[in-house]
This record gives sequence, C-alpha cells and structure tokens, in this order.
Amino acid sequence: MTDRVLIFDTTLRDGEQSPGASMDRDQKLTLAKQLARLKVDVIEAGFPISSPGDFNAVREIAQTVRGPIIAGLARAREEDIDAAWRAVQSAERPRIHTFVGTSDIHVKYQLRKTHDEVLQMAVHAVEFAKARCADVEFSPMDATRTDRPYLVEVVAATIAAGATTVNIPDTVGYTTPWEMHDLITHLRENVPGMDAVIISVHCHDDLGLSTANSLAAVHAGARQVECAVNGLGERAGNASLEEIVMGLKTRRGFFGLEVGTETSEIMRTSRMVSSFSGFLVAPNKAIVGDNAFSHESGIHADGVIKERTTFEIMDPQDVGISESAITLGPRSGRAALKKRLDDLGYPVESPEKLDVIYQRFLALADRKKQVHDEDLATLMQLNGAASAGTYSIVSLNVVAGTTTPTAEVTLERDGEEMRGSGVGNGPVEAVCSAIDAATGLSGTLEDFSVHAVTRGRDAIAQARIRLVMEDREAIGRGADVDTMLASAKAYLNGVNKLIVAERKAKIDEV
Ligand code: KIV
Ligand code: ZN
Repeated sequence: MTDRVLIFDTTLRDGEQSPGASMDRDQKLTLAKQLARLKVDVIEAGFPISSPGDFNAVREIAQTVRGPIIAGLARAREEDIDAAWRAVQSAERPRIHTFVGTSDIHVKYQLRKTHDEVLQMAVHAVEFAKARCADVEFSPMDATRTDRPYLVEVVAATIAAGATTVNIPDTVGYTTPWEMHDLITHLRENVPGMDAVIISVHCHDDLGLSTANSLAAVHAGARQVECAVNGLGERAGNASLEEIVMGLKTRRGFFGLEVGTETSEIMRTSRMVSSFSGFLVAPNKAIVGDNAFSHESGIHADGVIKERTTFEIMDPQDVGISESAITLGPRSGRAALKKRLDDLGYPVESPEKLDVIYQRFLALADRKKQVHDEDLATLMQLNGAASAGTYSIVSLNVVAGTTTPTAEVTLERDGEEMRGSGVGNGPVEAVCSAIDAATGLSGTLEDFSVHAVTRGRDAIAQARIRLVMEDREAIGRGADVDTMLASAKAYLNGVNKLIVAERKAKIDEV
C-alpha cells in the first residue's frame, strides 16, 4: 500500500452545494487554478448534469487547469455519466465519479428499488463510465448506515466492474472514529481486490467529527480523503481540507504518511473561498481562523516569544501566514501590480485587462495609501466590470447619524444615467431604497453582513446580501473602503444577478 494520501478537493462540488455558497463561472475557474497551486491531487469540479452553468464550468476547468485530476460527479444513470464525461474529457487526467445510495433508507425511500436493482445500477454505472474513462470512482452513498454484508457485495461488484477508487461516504455525518476505523478494516479484510484500488473517505460534519473520522479511516488504510476548504459543504459541511492536510503533516510521526499539498497556499485559498462563497471563517477555526496562531494569555505569549514550540504545534509560515507582507501604493506601476497579482494567483492575460485593473487599483491606492495582498485579492474577486444591461454606481451620498438616514444615488446603465433617493430606519435601508428608486425595481433584503477584510481603520469592508425579488433570489457582494459604498455595491450586484438570470430565463423560453 502506498504511503501517500491523496487530497480530493470537493469545494467546487459539495462545497458549492451549501445554500448561499454558489459561485459564478469566473470565481469557479479562479478557485480551480488556486486549488492547482495548492497542489491538491483531485479537483471535483462540479456535477455537470445539474445545470448548464455547472456543465460549462466543469468543462472550462477541465480544458484550462493542469496538474490535478479533474473529476465530474454523476448519479448512477447513463445521462449523468455521459454529461460528466463530456465535461471532463478534455482534462489532462479526467475522472468520472458515480454514486448511488446503498443504505436501507436510501434504497427503500429515496430510490424505491430493491437491493438487487441498486446493485445492478451500481455495476452498470461503473461499466458505462469505464467504457469512456479509465479513471472511475464509485461511492456507495450513506455507506456508514449501509448493512455491512450488502456494502461488501456492492463494493466488490463495482471493483470487479472496473472502479479504480472506492469512496466510503459518511453522508449524514453519523459515524464515529472507532466505527470508521472498523468499517475500513472490515472492507479491506472482506472485499476481494480492495487493496488493489484506492480507498477513499468522504465525511460530513453533522456531529463535528468529520476530520476525526477521515483521519481514523486513513489510519485504517484509506489513501484518499475528500474534503473542502474551510469545511464548506452540505449542511454542517465536509471535513476541512486544511485540518486534514495539517493533521497528517503535523502528526507525520504518528501516521507515517505523506501529502503532496503545498501548505503555504492554504491561507490564500481559505480567504479566496471565504470571499467567493460569502461564508466567513470563525476566528477560532483551526488552521485558518484569525486567532489560530495568536496568543492572548501572558504565559502563552511569553512562552512563544522565548521558544515558538512551547505553545505552537505548527509554524504559521507553513500555512502561508507571513509577517513580511509586501504592500503596493499609489506610486506602484503596472509591472509591480501585474507581478504581485501573478504571485497571488490572479494572472492578468491582456494589457487591456491590466489597464482596467490598474485604474481600479489606483483609485483604491489613492484612498488607502498602502494596498495589502488581501486588498488586491478583494479587488480581483469583487467589483468586476458591469456587463451590458446591468447597473453600476456613479455616485452615492449618504447622510446618517442622529438624523433620519437618507441616501442619493446616481447609477449608470449602457451609457444612460438615472438617479434615485431614499430614506430608511438605518443607512443601509436608505441606500437600498435609493437604488430601488433609481432602477424602478424593488427587492427584499433577507440577509446582510459586512466585515473588514484587513486590519486598521482604512480596512476594506466587504458586504454580502441575500436579495429576494418576486420568486427569485440572489447573493450579492461588494467591497470598498467605505462601508456604505460596499453595501450599495453588494445590493446592486444582487440586482444585476437577478437581471441577468431573468434575461437568461427569457432566452431559454424562446
Ligand atoms: O455525501 C455524500 O455521500 C456525497 C456523495 C456524492 C459522495 O456527497
Ligand atoms: Zn457529501
């Protein structure tokens, strides 16, 4: 058995499935490129049959991103597998990942089939995938609640049918480390050919045990872990990539195993995922939380100053936290900006695009003087150029404080300007009302949050809103040194998304 544990990242698939975490095409591509820099072994890029948008994103990632295996998810159905194959086939190393529920609950209530029928579905799915792609992964969904003899039968049959990786999902986050260890051991002892394929695990965090369960599986012989950056994923999420990787690396003496991940890219990837998904990282989150490497108590701080290892089991630099951050300013030129963006994982391909970004950078540098890496990342992730038929902000004036808050906004759409004003109980409500008055549209703000991207008084504020208009919903994001401008940009970003979705729906109807 190999001593290398493969890291299978599912941030773009299971992670993106979390309600409210959806990413657009550009964000998915940028994140996939960053995951390649992080050197994950497999990127599960999406679920191609689920929507044309997901299909196109997976296909683009397969065409562009080099290094990791690119996997597409498919139910155990021919049309799903066909779509997954069409989406990933141009990858350097494509994989089809097919799955079917095998627990009694899934077989009886979700699939409404007999156990025999489900076994046939699984075998046929693997054979159908194998006829197209050499690398096939099979997952018996809800494996940890599946009757053991039946699980052994399904896994054995799918290996015989050609599966090269067998994934054991704890779909509902139900198992414990001891049970997981026992299950993997049982499969290795009872399934013919089990040690000839890669054993994988996919653990959800409903009981907060996903990392522990994944590591227990590795200890029992699993050699692939499915995980997501910042633990993103369905419900309570998946096992956190950063916890799995740093767990294996920090306790290498215990596990005796290797991972190929470039750990110094962890922090940057975490921030990107947080910004794209709008899911903030808790300050006390292991590895990537703001407090993960800070020491408050006098005894701890004193110990770390004398000798870092007294209270730190990991070197912050190993996960990409460095003290010597390079900053740019109003006098930095295009070349310096381009070089820093390249280093941060945002390559700018054309001089025209660089020009646009440089103007946005100068506007920021003018107000902020020192532009940090986090500011640049936010600049690249948010506030993109408006597309045809959508609105952008020309000016915004807000009056707030001890008086009734009011706002006046001027917007621009396809070269035409429109104005609106509004009042509210608070300044954000006034801003949204002013935008509604200018666009003639009216949305309900379901959620609103704002947080500082960097430290200091001149930190960039990043706002996130959930906007509902009639039966449609969108997540809007915006960033600016000015909190009200960030909120207005986020609200308008949501409005623009709904306009684009409406336009697409009309085209699809024709
Ligand atoms: O949680 C799960 O079982 C899954 C499968 C598709 C692997 O996400
Ligand atoms: Zn899952």
